[in-house]
Amino acid sequence: MFEDDAGPSTPGLVTQSPLAFALILVGLYWVVKILRPSNAKRPPRAPYWIPWLGSALEMGKDPDGFFSNMTRLLGPVFRVKAIGQEMVYVTSPSLISSVYRDSQTFDFTSTRVEMGYKVFQLREHISSGPYMVDSYMGQLHNLLLPSSLHPMVEAYTSSAHDSLLSMISSMDGASGALKTFIIPSAYRAACVAGFGPEFPAEKSYPFFKAFDDDFHLLGAGLPKFLLSKPLKAWDRLLDLFESYIKEQNEKGEDLNPFLMAGLDGYRQGEWTYRDTATVLACQLWALQANAIFTAYWLLAILLQQSEGLGPIVAELDDARRQWQAAHPSTPLGPVFFEEVATSSKSLPLLSSAIQETLRFTTSTFSPRKVVSPVQLGGYQLRPGDTVICVTRLTHLDDEVHPHANEFDMRRYLETPRATKDGKAVANHSMPFGGGTSMCEGRHFALTELRVFLSILLTYATIDIDEGCMTRPTLTLERMGLGVMHPKGDMDVVLRKRRL
Ligand code: HEM
Ligand SMILES: *[C@@H]1O[C@H](CO)[C@@H](O)[C@H](O)[C@H]1NC(C)=O
Ligand SMILES: *[C@@H]1O[C@H](CO)[C@@H](O)[C@H](O)[C@H]1NC(C)=O
Repeated sequence: MFEDDAGPSTPGLVTQSPLAFALILVGLYWVVKILRPSNAKRPPRAPYWIPWLGSALEMGKDPDGFFSNMTRLLGPVFRVKAIGQEMVYVTSPSLISSVYRDSQTFDFTSTRVEMGYKVFQLREHISSGPYMVDSYMGQLHNLLLPSSLHPMVEAYTSSAHDSLLSMISSMDGASGALKTFIIPSAYRAACVAGFGPEFPAEKSYPFFKAFDDDFHLLGAGLPKFLLSKPLKAWDRLLDLFESYIKEQNEKGEDLNPFLMAGLDGYRQGEWTYRDTATVLACQLWALQANAIFTAYWLLAILLQQSEGLGPIVAELDDARRQWQAAHPSTPLGPVFFEEVATSSKSLPLLSSAIQETLRFTTSTFSPRKVVSPVQLGGYQLRPGDTVICVTRLTHLDDEVHPHANEFDMRRYLETPRATKDGKAVANHSMPFGGGTSMCEGRHFALTELRVFLSILLTYATIDIDEGCMTRPTLTLERMGLGVMHPKGDMDVVLRKRRL
């Protein structure tokens, strides 16, 4: 039957059907590509059909499925072509550990510098300058050490306490989207902790949000004309920071320590006001982009489980009663919340639930540039290769985390004794990345989450509004950037508790 239908000969095709001719050319391209012997020592490459675009669509639509399929097919080290760029992805915990440990061969600094000017619009010589690398980054590191956190946690707690109490009083009995009960107070408190009580948090939020919502597009390096919305919002955010720091610099006394660290660059004559504003806006992004949605997901996921928030509220109520018995003349307030949230022994269940939320909802890529030839997992990597550690695959590995697709708030009550292929896995949970690029803010983040959730669940109850049928899902397009934001939302009823 097909023989009968045989079409005209090829020369006729060129003139009569340019499309068919083009298809034949694409076919030839692939025949040549497949027949050409490949270099066996390079990591295998994920197959794709569309030149330039590569695996971008498959990977973007279902990153978890894509990475686990490729790992099954090709092993834990493979190359993926997407949007004109080829990168080496590493998916097993043991190989990720070897990349983290060898920071000489697998360099992070150049990527940090590049992100600085490509995504955050820092001037290139500021992003790579010795002042930034040696002085500012060092100051930031010190400010975020557990031993330095007290002033920041105190400022966060007092702001979160005020805004949550007034929100709960005014919304008592109301139904609304869960985000609306979480985001304003959490965003404001982190701004106060990071930049001082006079920072115009509410005014900055729409600019931050517009930038952050398209962050994955900025990170993918799309042409600038497609990015005008987030870039314009970023510019407005920088305007706002610039006038704020000018004002604060003139006042000069009793400044927030993070603001001081930024202003130091200006005062030393290393940075302009605009540079300083840009550095602090980067800080705002790091401060806000992940923590808020960790609190959100913990509530959203537990509300959908049969036990709900009950066990966590019970633990919290116990801690409060004990504290009140020990401090009979002190009214319940920020002092209690800061104390209970900073003591490592209190609230083990809440801490475990936070860890589990991070395991379940983060997609963290740690990028590295190969600077000298090196073997990884039996394959040859060359200088200039970009390596991406895909930590989420370890989080979803049933061998490492039994029943990995289930959310179990008690999973981290004891340190998981994880094994893979019979070997112990030290780094079974890497929501904050690892090695030299590991999140500097992780100690603050874990503390702020305990503070925020303790205050909210002590003063209010939250229940799913029974009339609401929608549920949030993970924004998978944000793969690699930390906590995946919720797409959609659900309505909840908030009620003030009578303590
Ligand atoms: C739950 C909340 C958070 C999550 C999940 C998170 C996650 C991350 C991730 C995945 C990275 C990059 C890791 C890598 O490349 O290996 C990172 C870097 C960073 N984060 Fe966080 N983060 C959170 C909260 C915070 C907070 C509250 C701050 C600030 C106070 C902060 C400050 C930073 C900084 C400064 C870096 C850059 C480190 C570097 O470039 O060396 N983070 N974070
Ligand atoms: C992964 O493989 C399964 C089974 O072979 C297939 O059904 C699924 O579509 C694949 N997913 C992706 C994203 O490639
Ligand atoms: C585990 O990860 C941390 C950071 O996440 C890193 O510093 C450490 O070297 C890793 N440990 C191993 C055994 O790879």
